[in-house]
Amino acid sequence: MTTTTVTRAAARVVDAVKVYGGGDTAVRALDGVSVDFPAGRFTAIMGPSGSGKSTLMHCAAGLDTLTSGTARIGDTDLSTLDDRRLTLLRRDRVGFVFQAFNLVPTLTVAENITLPLDLAGRRGDTEWVDALIDVVGLRDRLHHRPAELSGGQQQRVAVARAFAGRPDVVFADEPTGNLDSRSGGEVLGLLGRTVRQTGRTVVMVTHDPVAAAHADEVVFLADGRLVDRMDAPSADKVLDRMKAFEVPS
Ligand SMILES: Nc1ncnc2c1ncn2[C@@H]1O[C@H](COP(=O)(O)OP(=O)(O)OP(=O)(O)O)[C@@H](O)[C@H]1O
Ligand SMILES: [Mg+2]
Repeated sequence: MTTTTVTRAAARVVDAVKVYGGGDTAVRALDGVSVDFPAGRFTAIMGPSGSGKSTLMHCAAGLDTLTSGTARIGDTDLSTLDDRRLTLLRRDRVGFVFQAFNLVPTLTVAENITLPLDLAGRRGDTEWVDALIDVVGLRDRLHHRPAELSGGQQQRVAVARAFAGRPDVVFADEPTGNLDSRSGGEVLGLLGRTVRQTGRTVVMVTHDPVAAAHADEVVFLADGRLVDRMDAPSADKVLDRMKAFEVPS
């Protein structure tokens, strides 16, 4: 029996080109990348330093614009949006987790998690936020402030905040870059669980094969081009693939 699974792309770029600067100093950070990030999946973007990972994420998420090509969130072509609509899209349909946790120090954990909803004047889905608090394991820390939490706990707050508004897709750029391996492992496990338990979509940039192994699929960039995709990655398989990019000495 053959089963065909049709997956919708939560985000995608087609023929994405991004050139920084001009003239002799122009840098072609993306050189014709086409990639889709399927809904309900956890995709990792890997590649050597300078290969264009952050640029791809920023352009796919509407934080930066492409020089040519298209970027879509769901069915929305980002190039058709004016600044105001782009801001609304980033606020309402996309979540972000960065290496620096970017929590507001004067707000409690609970207030940080609902901050995007509060800023948008949305009541949000209180059952969803309540369930998220259990997924990230912070119920007993809700009234603490970020300075009273470990780095791993702070990043778990940032993960809950990113998912609070039920975004189409959460983008994470090196979310474990500031964490020790144990806390990092917890945050990665959390991202994976959130995708599997709630059907949300995560796209994560990382240079760490162990981090990438938490994803459902890895896409590899080199010199601004998509060079490979790998399903069901393991750290060893990813490491082997990455070795192929290294310049022989
Ligand atoms: N604002 C910018 N202006 C000029 N060049 C830039 C800018 N941002 C990135 N670049 C260049 O574009 C290329 C891709 O950068 P990008 O930050 O996307 O790489 P990356 O894969 O995320 O690397 P890393 O693993 O080091 O974070 C690099 O050559 C970088 O120097
Ligand atoms: Mg980067």
